Amino acid sequence: MGKHLGPGRGRLALDIGSGDGALARHLHHELGYRTTGIDCSPSAVALAATHDTNPEPGPDRGPAWHCLDFTTDDLTTLAHPAYALITCRLVYRWIDDKPAFLDRIRRILAPGGVFWVITEIAGRRTTTNPALKKLGISPLDAELLTTGWSCARTADLDVLRCYALRP
Ligand SMILES: C[S@@+](CC[C@H](N)C(=O)[O-])C[C@H]1O[C@@H](n2cnc3c(N)ncnc32)[C@H](O)[C@@H]1O
Repeated sequence: MGKHLGPGRGRLALDIGSGDGALARHLHHELGYRTTGIDCSPSAVALAATHDTNPEPGPDRGPAWHCLDFTTDDLTTLAHPAYALITCRLVYRWIDDKPAFLDRIRRILAPGGVFWVITEIAGRRTTTNPALKKLGISPLDAELLTTGWSCARTADLDVLRCYALRP
């Protein structure tokens, strides 16, 4: 990720569905983005915040955390109108209305920014259980995800695929 994106140099990043906050902390502390992690689950946001040991506000403290449902909540409540990097790991397949979700991403992705998605691809698990086999996004979902960007790069990681999408 660091190789593809280069150093953050204080640019803004938003991690959607941040869960325990591991990816947001990586973006903030290792890559140098000023990062916000958002999650619709208050307990996930509280868990992520427990890792912030420095009580002083500022870049050393870690990412900002915000409880927000990205699909329904007002995006103007975010601290910034646009982000240079938006990440979404293991979340996209749970989104019911993917076209509406992608419209919302485009609204807050800065010009020249990157939308970084990591998602499971259906059919890749080595299992005979059909319920497990179909976990992940379908070829149609994948086509929808990659349509309309000036550049769409992918890399495969076992059952997962990583997408770097640029407007
Ligand atoms: C499988 S976890 C992945 C957590 C983290 N991204 C990771 O890679 O470890 C999915 C997370 O997305 C959150 N989530 C699902 N739908 C969401 C939405 N519409 N808006 C914000 N967060 C959402 C869930 O609450 C959950 O914490």
